[in-house]
Amino acid sequence: MCGIVGCTSTQKNIIPILLDGLKTLEYRGYDSAGLSFIKNGNLIINKVKGRVQDLENHLAKDENAKIGIAHTRWATHGKVNEINAHPHNVGSITIVHNGIIENFNKLKHKLKDKGYHFKSQSDTEIAAGLLDYYYNKYQNLDKTIQKFIKKVDGSYAICMLVNNDPNTIYVIKKDSPLIIGKGENINYIASDVPAILKYTKNYYILEDCEYGKITSDNITIYDKDGNILNKELKTYQGSNLTSDKGTYKHYMLKEINEQSITIRKTIDPYINNIDDLLKLPDLTKYERIDIIACGTAMHAGLTAKYLFEECTNTKCEVFLASEYRYQNNFLNKNVLSIFISQSGETADTLAALKKVKEAKCDTLGIVNVKESSIARALDKVLYTEAGTEIAVASTKAYTAQVALLSVLALAQAYRKKSIKEEKILKILEEFQNISSTLIPILENAQTYENIAKEIYKQNDIFYIGRSLDYYVSMEGSLKLKEISYIHSEAYAAGELKHGTISLITENTPVFASATIEKINAKTISNLKEVVARGAKCYLITDENIKDENFTIIKIKKVSMFLKPLLIVIPYQLIAYYTANLKGCDIDKPRNLAKSVTVE
Ligand code: F6R
Repeated sequence: MCGIVGCTSTQKNIIPILLDGLKTLEYRGYDSAGLSFIKNGNLIINKVKGRVQDLENHLAKDENAKIGIAHTRWATHGKVNEINAHPHNVGSITIVHNGIIENFNKLKHKLKDKGYHFKSQSDTEIAAGLLDYYYNKYQNLDKTIQKFIKKVDGSYAICMLVNNDPNTIYVIKKDSPLIIGKGENINYIASDVPAILKYTKNYYILEDCEYGKITSDNITIYDKDGNILNKELKTYQGSNLTSDKGTYKHYMLKEINEQSITIRKTIDPYINNIDDLLKLPDLTKYERIDIIACGTAMHAGLTAKYLFEECTNTKCEVFLASEYRYQNNFLNKNVLSIFISQSGETADTLAALKKVKEAKCDTLGIVNVKESSIARALDKVLYTEAGTEIAVASTKAYTAQVALLSVLALAQAYRKKSIKEEKILKILEEFQNISSTLIPILENAQTYENIAKEIYKQNDIFYIGRSLDYYVSMEGSLKLKEISYIHSEAYAAGELKHGTISLITENTPVFASATIEKINAKTISNLKEVVARGAKCYLITDENIKDENFTIIKIKKVSMFLKPLLIVIPYQLIAYYTANLKGCDIDKPRNLAKSVTVE
């Protein structure tokens, strides 16, 4: 989603730094880009609809400035066009903004009554207008910002230039991440750490309702009442973002193939002997586990629900964060809420987490990005070691989440003695060998490419399964639709007859997985029902099934705790090859953003 970069330096030209930062954030998804800087005392604004490269082409080759702010926009208010792109300038104020100003309509009317005119449909222009209004009124930037924080509802990370203060960048933050990077005679601002990692590893994190003043040699951060804060300077501990696709055509393909490593790395501390499981938090005192997440992360949560309920006899509910935040959550001290997030910045997940914290109930998180907003707000965090995921469609983060949740459930089974030790040891051995189990599935590319050739011209595709297989089919369906733009739906196999089967016609592709012995026969019957109506069926199974009505993708028989990891890979690769045949922009699918920082 939207990205912010800012920089002010005593000597260096900051234009290449801003462009470089925006390029690093490109993977998050955006539709327009803009940049503003001060040159010879004059404010210059450049904006384009399209890519950061278009913005770069738009600038003079030798453009040079010492202070500037830049932005990639993912449209929320108003169409994708140059006028709605950031920066927005009103009077003396120029800003870039991530987030949503919720009361912008009311503010717009008030400002119009005061004589303001607006050119765009963007809520950000209203925020700039409000800042300009208070600045004119108070002639004092601290007062201006403090008043702004009081009057504005919604979320914002704002980076601001002020006409008659040409050496300072101002920043304001609420419910949208913003960091300030510290250098030598140069300082940086970014919505995400990777944007500035090439230049500095040292940074301050702004918390909600804090604001800051940044010059090339000074950083001052204030609370909402204007008190100076003594903030901790953090040092980034993770590895640098690799922007290298290697020999792969797309990041997504690279990331799918990395899974044999990332899964193992994520669970390594917990699987080498049985007592390693006890390093994981003890969840036995809770009567219920709630799992809260969005999209793919929520699908990972569903696989954990299956394991907690079936293998450890622990009640587990899974919620979409966007729904959870507005419903009755029946929370009490005996409930543990687990939040799952790759980015650690998803607005709905963060809001749901804040709700649980307000209720003073325990929280645990499965997060990929260290020091992210969600990671910082949790009581306890378990990190996935998926590394940086650049493709918008999540693959290696999903399997890392699934694997970590599976060992967490296995630890619960060990503590509750719901599975015999002997069996747990066998499961641990399977986890230790996960890389070699996954490699043949990953290497079966020809099968997936052949299937892609059969389905890529279709308009509708269905995914079915029962229980755990159903939960993984939801992820298979999501992968296909988000990158290939083919409409697809996942259904519990037993539910088809209750309506959806009317959509099955000659050659409609139907994917199924059947890996749970006691109900496989039922799923196969459901598959036969659609074959009878003309469907073309593909079956992922670990059983020895021979049926000429289906194309069978055979996977190794493993414990329940590992099954989703094996089933999902063919689904990911079929989605990939299908989108590739359609010539889609696989790493940056249309309309999607990597980190969804608005509601
Ligand atoms: C789909 C996908 C999304 C994310 C969702 C949550 O491929 O990536 O559905 O899973 O937006 O994002 P995180 O995990 O960053 O909270």
